[in-house]
Amino acid sequence: MTVYHLPEDFYFGGATAAYQVEGATKEDGKGEVIWDKYLHEQGTINPDPAADFYHRYPTDLDLCKKFHINAIRVSIDWARIFPEGTGKLEPRGVAYYHKLFKKCHEDGVEPFVTLHHFDTPQALQDKGGWLSEEMLDAFVDYAKFCFKEFGDEVKYWITINEPTSMAGQQYVSGTFPPAYTNEFAKCFQAEYNQNLVHARIVNAFKAGGYDGKIGVVHALQTVYPASPSEGDKHAAALKDALENRFYLDGTLAGHYSDETLALVQEIIEANDQQMIEIKPEDEEVLTKAAKSLDFVGVNYYFSKFMKEHHGENVFHHNGGGEKGTDVNKMKGVGEEVHPTDLPATDWDWIIYPKGMYDQLKRVHDNYPDVPEIYITENGMGYKDKFLGPDKAIDDAPRIQYLKAHILEVAKAIQDGIPVKGYFVWSLQDQFSWTNGYSKRYGLFYVDFETQARYPKQSAYWYRGLADSKQIST
Ligand code: NOJ
Repeated sequence: MTVYHLPEDFYFGGATAAYQVEGATKEDGKGEVIWDKYLHEQGTINPDPAADFYHRYPTDLDLCKKFHINAIRVSIDWARIFPEGTGKLEPRGVAYYHKLFKKCHEDGVEPFVTLHHFDTPQALQDKGGWLSEEMLDAFVDYAKFCFKEFGDEVKYWITINEPTSMAGQQYVSGTFPPAYTNEFAKCFQAEYNQNLVHARIVNAFKAGGYDGKIGVVHALQTVYPASPSEGDKHAAALKDALENRFYLDGTLAGHYSDETLALVQEIIEANDQQMIEIKPEDEEVLTKAAKSLDFVGVNYYFSKFMKEHHGENVFHHNGGGEKGTDVNKMKGVGEEVHPTDLPATDWDWIIYPKGMYDQLKRVHDNYPDVPEIYITENGMGYKDKFLGPDKAIDDAPRIQYLKAHILEVAKAIQDGIPVKGYFVWSLQDQFSWTNGYSKRYGLFYVDFETQARYPKQSAYWYRGLADSKQIST
């Protein structure tokens, strides 16, 4: 048995996102976001009241305090503050976030605040979303407003959450609104613009001289070839470029390497589309931001194993939680396969804790100038069963999952990788973008009928870890 120690000042966090927890989608003058329109049109899942955090944030923060969770990831719903994305300000939205941050500090819970977590105001999507200059300018203005308004209350800012899953699902797999498919050039253009606007916001934050730190959160799945064949190795490199490297280069190095760009071009051209333009003047903005970036957040859930694939694109998203039904084959990239010896969640997310270590090491080795790393999300979707009000929900598989992954974090810290905190996704059960309410991640069970909260076994386990700061093999 090896015992690992986590640092005294380590953050043991719980993560949320505005749209997934707040509910109240039409309250206090909040404007429409892309999910309101899309989910209404689909008519399958209702984002209201989610976990009713808009009204119940004091309960959840009290739970944080009771369970020794000393940090929380929250995001600001842009359309609560600027209902149209820009222009008219909604003071009730501003007041809500002041109350939320105040409560965080009263309970000794550090807020890590994301400016954009998948919830683009619809008015800006109508102008072209990530592909429009107007949206990018409005994003910078909204960010500057937040720094000024909340700068005394927020010490950790995150520009964008998981731009990669957003762009990929908006333009390639079609699982996020506006749900385009196979638009690889547009996907990379959106990614390029996200990297650039992130950099503009970092530069504005630094120019403003605010007392705080700023970073970005990436979804980083570690990608391995399914076999040692050259074809599979190349498929893994392509997938890594599409989902990880293009963002890592853009935000952490401030420069796209020739190798990254060659892989990106190969993907776009294999889909008979035209390579995007990389402008030298943009690289100056990226480099400036990368040099002053305070941290990167890593969301890690699973690894991917790639096989070469030369046929058409085939996507099947496992929304029902039935094992073995997820399919992902991308022309010009490759096919995701599931090695038989590795377990997976009910949603076919391959459980591979070592991928967490490998990813942290890669980020640190390849982008050594980033001073701090946080695991901003990690957790397991599970079909938790309610056992009655007096019994903690038995989520042993989740505890096993969290423990195995936090062990890899502890090993990384021991090896000199500067990981400063870890956030369980999620703090409480919440609304899931493509699965509604069936996929539960929380440390706290939410009865979505009554909105009552019940700690799961994992919440007690996590408190024990936060207290002892020790984890063993
Ligand atoms: C990443 C996203 O940031 C979050 O919104 C999502 O619900 C979780 N992963 C789980 O899929």
